[in-house]
Amino acid sequence: MVSYKSKSVERISLPSREERERNLQQAQYNVFNLPADAVFIDLLTDSGTGAMSDEQWAALLRGDEAYAGSQSFERLESAVSDVMGFEHVIPAHQGRGAENVLYGTLLGDTPDAVVPNNTHFDTTRAHVANQGAAPVDCPVPDAHDPDADEPFKGNTSLEELRAVVDDVGADQVPLVIQTITNNSAAGQPVSVDNTRRVREFAEEIDATFVIDACRFAENAYFVHQREDEFSDATIEEIAREQLGYADAIVMSGKKDGLVNTGGFVATNDPDLFDRCKQRAILYEGFPTYGGMAGRDLAAMAVGLREAVTETYVADRVEQVRTFGSLLADVGAPVYTPTGGHAVYLDAAEALPHLEATAFPGQALVCALYREGGVRGVELGSFAFPDTDRPELVRLAVPRRTYHREHFEHVAETVKTVLENSGAISGLEIATDPAIPELRHFTAGLEPVSP
Ligand code: F0G
Repeated sequence: MVSYKSKSVERISLPSREERERNLQQAQYNVFNLPADAVFIDLLTDSGTGAMSDEQWAALLRGDEAYAGSQSFERLESAVSDVMGFEHVIPAHQGRGAENVLYGTLLGDTPDAVVPNNTHFDTTRAHVANQGAAPVDCPVPDAHDPDADEPFKGNTSLEELRAVVDDVGADQVPLVIQTITNNSAAGQPVSVDNTRRVREFAEEIDATFVIDACRFAENAYFVHQREDEFSDATIEEIAREQLGYADAIVMSGKKDGLVNTGGFVATNDPDLFDRCKQRAILYEGFPTYGGMAGRDLAAMAVGLREAVTETYVADRVEQVRTFGSLLADVGAPVYTPTGGHAVYLDAAEALPHLEATAFPGQALVCALYREGGVRGVELGSFAFPDTDRPELVRLAVPRRTYHREHFEHVAETVKTVLENSGAISGLEIATDPAIPELRHFTAGLEPVSP
């Protein structure tokens, strides 16, 4: 049951087939280079691309732009405390700013640290590596099986975690991260029980336990549906319980903060808070604004409260599930169960004639734009070189933005692409940027000649 209606709309249009082909060439077959007005349905990301509520727009007008101690910051502090259970908040311009503040603070003292995570998102991986530490993924075995029908494929594998620590020694592991939902494992949820166990393990080895909480409300909805212990709990109660196991969280407000920009670090540890503040001043701004305008802090405070309302989050996750069903109905190789923020397609199955070295995921991304003006993103061997991940293409759903007709267009597009898949050629990298963890954002590609 949808719990909102549109008050403001934005015009979109589908460029001609010739224009789309030309746009792809000019973008060097990297859809990050496409101008947004050349895209019909934009499923590149769910990050900062959603629609805000009228309450959020009203909060923008009441934003307090004081450099220090603004009322907007106080509203954010109180929302983070009520919704997430943390007393100390350090705003940052977005999630990766928060990652820099927290991981720079936590990893600065341990040379050659090793950092386990259920699965590192690309900016997390890059920030950990940027601190001279080694990011290691510890997903459960089912995470990379697009067909395994398991409720919590986003979980951290305790066995893998233990193996990492046995291998390098507990002293080398000052930090354990868990990402909820697990974006790089197809947006799959993490159970509260798993979070609890990872927390216990982190305590055992005296490591700081951090939750990447970007999509904490979507995760809580899955917990409510799938974890018996929580079937009677509210989304807010689940969120507070799960996040409560962390020593600190990093948050991108562009996801379950329901805003176009912003993020923060939050903790109940006064010492960690003090240490983070110093680094925040250096990179983000005075710790009551952290690179954000007061009005954006105010909108995020409202967004966090909206994100945990039952009707909002049920609409949200069920819309993504319906989109997944529409795609499955046209025979698309959909990763199942559908995650919280996106539908993922298995490009290796869609384009079996292409080897990993010809980037089947990126070839599929280009084909979707060419056919229907749809923009998705590759999260396979192009985005994650030298890792053993499936060839996934992510079709992320912006919050409160698209309707069933839009998703039907995408399903039609996928159907046509699959019917003609044999003609899709592979790609090779033409220009390779300096930081391998970030190459998919800016690398140029060209088609491999048949
Ligand atoms: N952690 C996770 C799990 C994320 O998904 C993201 C962003 C970040 C951290 C960084 O946050 O963008 O505000 O700096 N994910 C976006 C995506 C970009 O498309 O999945 P940010």
